[in-house]
Amino acid sequence: MTDEPRSPEPTPIDPAVEAALVGSREARAATLLEFARIPSISTQPEHAADMVTAAEWIAARLRGVGATEVEVCETQLHPIVYGRIHEAPGAPTVLVYCHFDVQPVDPVELWETAPFEPFLRDGRFVGRGVADDKGQLVMHLSAIEALRAAGRAPAVNLTFVFEGEEEYGSESLFAWIPQNRHRLGADVAVISDTTYFEGNVPAITVGLRGIMYAQIDVELSPVDLHSGQYGGSVENPAIALARIITALKGPDGRVRIPTFYDDVVALSDADRAQMAALPFDEESFREETQVPALVGETGWTILESRTARPTLDVNGIWGGFQGDGAKTIIPAHAHAKVSTRLVADQKPGKVFEALRDYVAQVAPRGVRVTTTFIHGGEASLTPTDHPATQAAARAIRAVEGVDPVFIREGGSIPVTAAFSSVLGLPVVLAGFDQPNCNAHAPNEWLDERNFETGTRIIVRLWDELARLPRGAQ
Ligand code: BES
Ligand code: ZN
Repeated sequence: MTDEPRSPEPTPIDPAVEAALVGSREARAATLLEFARIPSISTQPEHAADMVTAAEWIAARLRGVGATEVEVCETQLHPIVYGRIHEAPGAPTVLVYCHFDVQPVDPVELWETAPFEPFLRDGRFVGRGVADDKGQLVMHLSAIEALRAAGRAPAVNLTFVFEGEEEYGSESLFAWIPQNRHRLGADVAVISDTTYFEGNVPAITVGLRGIMYAQIDVELSPVDLHSGQYGGSVENPAIALARIITALKGPDGRVRIPTFYDDVVALSDADRAQMAALPFDEESFREETQVPALVGETGWTILESRTARPTLDVNGIWGGFQGDGAKTIIPAHAHAKVSTRLVADQKPGKVFEALRDYVAQVAPRGVRVTTTFIHGGEASLTPTDHPATQAAARAIRAVEGVDPVFIREGGSIPVTAAFSSVLGLPVVLAGFDQPNCNAHAPNEWLDERNFETGTRIIVRLWDELARLPRGAQ
């Protein structure tokens, strides 16, 4: 919470901008629906052309709002869209980031309507990507459009970086940032890809977890073996994999990989008190997720376990016979996708090596086991009292009428840490989705009210950041 008193009513933003936003409501909604029709799934090779279509769509919109140097930058995989609106001489420069790739849609049968035929009904946009993250990207474009309609330019200089591999680990962006350092100079980065707190409580995210994603492959032989002929004389790869996985995490929720916790920055009593003060109700969280019971790490609350403590999960596991009926085999191989969520100061590379060595150590003999790195990104922590964070808090209060809460999120946005470590920028995570928006799941949604307030908060944020003295960012 900020120290300033709460304002009872939202302060209206610039009346001319407000009028433009009121007048463009339907058009802005249509823009999001148009964008969300592009099936820009970054992890599926068959959608490579859709990634280009989405990038070109954004570039055209950026040009439409008067951005210069707009470029769809080729990378080793999906394009990155760059553009700038530098019309505020002497004012701070803000690096704005959102992503335009989306997650796969499976299981598609659980969608009530086709994932890429989005619609707006009863105040909700529904469709893949409307929340994560196309809605937030459109809020940024809309904010500029409304300023233009009111005859204004943004009060800060804006440099846009929109990427197409966020859901795939941001590998191309990691290579692109150092190569483009000369045109990424800024005072602060603003990332819009996060959520409000439970119950749609306005929030600023000050902590994100990192990630290390890997695959474990267990091989027995080139082909399946008859389980009658061979059972009892060879190791079963599915059982071997189960043993390995069981060794990774205890029932107390602690990861068993040696050295895993070595670099974890301790949570201070103040951090824990601040989290305990958040309006988080474990039972309503459980009910909403429809799980039989919440299982966290022993010694930590559920909120701490899911946002401020590192963890390990199996994302998928397969091998052997899965059809109807029965088939008596010893599978030739078995596999698992495993990911860890990391906190400051754990390093994905080091965690991968520790996982790989430990898997080799606990693997039963009689099978060949390999562990392969897939992607990684570091955790990030922003001080709550940073002037740019406080500017965002004022923008939120002005529009929402309440102070935001400061929260940590369990999810990851790999580029966040790179903006600070490579470009030396403070990062403000100002996102506007609701936490239960079905991101990555069927029937993803965005409340139109959040779409409206988010756009206004962005308009206001440029004014707030413009007022910060240079160097204070
Ligand atoms: N928008 C999310 C990150 C997020 C999740 C923020 C939950 C706040 C709450 C982002 O698009 C995302 O899903 N990131 C991936 C990154 C990964 C694939 C490297 C994630 O966290 O799984
Ligand atoms: Zn996502």
